[in-house]
Parts: sequence; structure tokens; C-alpha cells
Amino acid sequence: MSLEITSESPDQYKRNTSNFDSTLRYDTDFGYSKMSSICNKMIKNSNITLNDNILEIGGGTGELILKYANYTRNIVVTDINPYMIKVIQQKARDNKNIFYALTDAKKIPFKDNSFNVVLERNLPLIYLDTFISDGTAIKVLNEMKRVSNDKVVVIHQNNTPLQRKEAGVHLFNESELKTILEDDLELVNVKVINAVFSNPFLYSFLEEALSREIEKICGDSFLLKRFSGCLIACGSKMG
Ligand SMILES: C[S@@+](CC[C@H](N)C(=O)[O-])C[C@H]1O[C@@H](n2cnc3c(N)ncnc32)[C@H](O)[C@@H]1O
Repeated sequence: MSLEITSESPDQYKRNTSNFDSTLRYDTDFGYSKMSSICNKMIKNSNITLNDNILEIGGGTGELILKYANYTRNIVVTDINPYMIKVIQQKARDNKNIFYALTDAKKIPFKDNSFNVVLERNLPLIYLDTFISDGTAIKVLNEMKRVSNDKVVVIHQNNTPLQRKEAGVHLFNESELKTILEDDLELVNVKVINAVFSNPFLYSFLEEALSREIEKICGDSFLLKRFSGCLIACGSKMG
């Protein structure tokens, strides 16, 4: 961990980390099932195998990596926040195939084509409206493509009626994500599936009514909003 990255203050990094798992309910059975479900669908949709070397950027507290670590050969997990890296190191201390790097996703410190699979889940750097409009999002996605020799996997909350209300975060629907991977990144064999809420058609029928109902149930928790949709997009550099 020799890189110095100072886009946020150390205190802010510490605060972001300290309540991360509880805010997202990763420390509950619900969180465990949700991440397991996302992981299983990611492995299936992206054909991830025991031979793959994987890079995850913006790995947070490692809840996704801990689920797929047994299905792959080597994993390098990165984050811009050193406290997040410390949490993953602690949680994954018995996993011998996980390595760590303190890394800014805008400039990934690996050579071209270093990994078979490069993935990210909910990296706000990519999805904030501001980063979409100033081109940072595409820059980060292209960095991911550069260091991959095959697959790029993007996991993101779906654009459901509920999630659309999150301020400042740009949410995509399935066809938008597909267009980004196919047209902007020029990847082939692009697939996008809905990982958590497997019946998106329900939203077309219930729309705002469903939204209000779920909001009533979850109060001011973001949990159900986040549960209500998750897209997994995968594309390949090879024809
Ligand atoms: C919303 S969290 C998601 C974490 C994890 N992927 C998950 O699904 O639980 C976003 C993560 O991206 C990291 N991050 C934000 N900006 C970054 C950047 N420029 N480079 C690398 N990581 C970044 C944050 O520190 C945080 O851990």
C-alpha cells in the first residue's frame, strides 16, 4: 500500500468505513443472502471459472469478494480508501488467493491485459451524475477494459421507480448499460441480467404504488430500495 491517494480526508475515509456494513445491512442474514445471490448470478452470467484471475475495483468492505473467492484462482481487490482495505484484509485473513492494492480507479496501476476479469459493483465514482457528464465514468470503465484481457463486469442498481429517487446517482436501465458496454467500450458478447429483483415487469404494472408501499415498510432505510433491483452486465474484449 504505497500509493498516496488524497481525494478525501483520512477522517472521511474512516467515517465511510465504520458504519458501512451496518448501513447496507451486510452484517445481517438478509445482506448475506443478497450478496450470495448477486455473486452466484455474476459467476453464471459472466462464466467465471476457477482459472480466472480477477481484479475488483472499489471493493469496499469485501462482501462480494468473500462470496466468489472460492470460485476463482487469484483475486486482487482494490479501493481508494485504506480503511476499507484493512477491513477486507481482516475479513479475508484465511483466504490465500486474495491480494490487496490501494488504488484510484481513474488510474489503475496494472499493465494492459493483466487480468481475465475486471469487475466493479456500485462504484459511485462511475455513477454519480457529475462523473457521467464530465466523462470520468467512461474513463474509469476504459481503465477497467485496459487491464482486462477478456471480461469486464459491471454490477449496478437497477433503474426501478424506487431507486430513481436517489439524489445525484445516475441509475441505468438494462438497455442503457448494454449500450455503454457495446458502444462506448466496444465490448462483444454483452449480456445484462437482473440479479436480485428477477421480475422487472412487476414494476411496469405497479410503478409508484409499489414504490410507496415499500417505502412505508422500510421507513428511512435504504435497504429495500437497494434490494429492489440489481443489474449485472458483462462484456468481453475478445471476438
Ligand atoms: C458504494 S461502495 C461499494 C463497495 C462494494 N463494491 C460493494 O458493493 O459493497 C463504493 C466503494 O468505491 C470506493 N471508491 C470510491 N471512489 C473510488 C476511486 N476513485 N477509486 C477506487 N475506489 C473508489 C469507495 O471507497 C467504496 O469502498
